[in-house]
Amino acid sequence: GSCLESVKIAIDTGYRHIDGAFVYYNEHEVGQAIREKIAEGRIKREDIFYCGKLWNTCHPPELVRPTLEKTLKILQLDYVDLYIIELPMAFKPGDAIYPRDENGKFIYHETDLCATWEAMEACKDAGLAKSIGVSNFNRRQLEMILNKPGLKYKPVSNQVECHPYFTQPKLLEFCRQHDIVIVGYSPLGTSRDETWVNVSSPPLLKDPLLNAIGKKYNKTAAQVALRFSIQRGVVVIPKSFNPQRIRENFQIFDFSLTEKEMKEIEALNKNVRYVELLM
Ligand code: A2P
Repeated sequence: GSCLESVKIAIDTGYRHIDGAFVYYNEHEVGQAIREKIAEGRIKREDIFYCGKLWNTCHPPELVRPTLEKTLKILQLDYVDLYIIELPMAFKPGDAIYPRDENGKFIYHETDLCATWEAMEACKDAGLAKSIGVSNFNRRQLEMILNKPGLKYKPVSNQVECHPYFTQPKLLEFCRQHDIVIVGYSPLGTSRDETWVNVSSPPLLKDPLLNAIGKKYNKTAAQVALRFSIQRGVVVIPKSFNPQRIRENFQIFDFSLTEKEMKEIEALNKNVRYVELLM
């Protein structure tokens, strides 16, 4: 229920880009929030930009379209604005989202990412996804797709971890050259949940520089971190279930950072991920 409420508050606040996934197990709530706001007359479907994700167990090409159709059925929407391959590695297809063998080891699955991509292209052609992209792809994996013979559509975006402590300068430059938008996840430095976050890297929002710059503009460290990303052309997808912080994270369009401040924040880069994705 908290997801339904948060998405409704977000839409009322002005957010239009909603980042979802089947594996977040809340697409039914996201869909309901969008549909309620449309019914209220506050937004139209075309105002919303919904991103869905193809999970690791669904990489075989014949599974791609049915998986997207399942997401659409859960959302009760006719299309997603963006559909992305969530991770470049595949797991064994089946009901287990994290398939493991008797020793607890992940069971991977050999797939051809280019074949998966062709199935993604077919989803776009069928009108089920307006655009298609990828996530957690490195340069080599992007090049595999970009250099694929007969490529019909290139990935419009690559969603990766990106924030002042992990600024991704090389990947950002590569993606710029190829017109691929970087969507930065964990733009606030994650929820620091030890089950999936490397908490040995210090908390981003406690950073003295971000806080000092925030003071100057009467903004929080979170707002400075988000502003930094959008100012360098990185799309941000901050997550909050708290109404006050949902609104706070949207108040970033009434100030700008100087070139000097941007450089200083860029220098905070530690090249250390919070989200190591060890699998
Ligand atoms: P909450 O949901 O209680 O607001 P990220 O977007 O990098 O994944 O970070 C999400 C984490 O940051 C969540 O734990 C969220 O908690 C917290 N958070 C979101 N917005 C803010 C903010 N403006 N200030 C401090 N913490 C925030």
